[in-house]
Amino acid sequence: MWKYEVLGLFYGTSPDAAQSMGMILKLVNAENTIEVGVFTGYSLLLTALTIPDDGKITATDIYRRTYDEIGLPIIKKAGVEHKIDFIEAPALPVLDKLLEDPEKVGRFDFGFVDADKGNYWNYHERLANLVKVGGVIIYDNTLWEGFVALPEEYFSEEERITRKDMIE
Ligand SMILES: C[S@@+](CC[C@H](N)C(=O)[O-])C[C@H]1O[C@@H](n2cnc3c(N)ncnc32)[C@H](O)[C@@H]1O
Repeated sequence: MWKYEVLGLFYGTSPDAAQSMGMILKLVNAENTIEVGVFTGYSLLLTALTIPDDGKITATDIYRRTYDEIGLPIIKKAGVEHKIDFIEAPALPVLDKLLEDPEKVGRFDFGFVDADKGNYWNYHERLANLVKVGGVIIYDNTLWEGFVALPEEYFSEEERITRKDMIE
């Protein structure tokens, strides 16, 4: 029996993808970042360890428990909790709120999206304005285990929706 309702529904970023992300964070000298989809906080920890001590991450997830109980103790142990502003909420209104603040528009160096695939395009519209020119936005699952390259008829109706979202 799972202790957490969402374990088994989501996966953390793979270690090799996270290491690549760490390299990109360093290449763009990221200090101020946004993360959409935290889960246990693996990619969040990686980001927090990579950005400078006075760096900031605005992180959002609709569900907080896996972060609080699994990731946060490790993040505290690593001494990087002060860099994280975790917002428990659906990401879209959070991004819209950030866009209302002129201090936030174009001020982020980096964005990482790893949440509900149906909203990726909506996230992109917002993040394109929040992340500065020359910054980087990374979307997890864009190749979706190669599924985006296979013909539609291989997939169930539900999978077709995700495939279409990822191709877009
Ligand atoms: C694949 S997991 C994130 C993994 C995480 N980036 C890591 O590396 O460990 C996806 C997460 O997106 C969250 N999520 C789903 N829909 C969301 C939404 N509309 N807004 C914010 N987070 C959402 C889920 O609760 C889940 O924790």
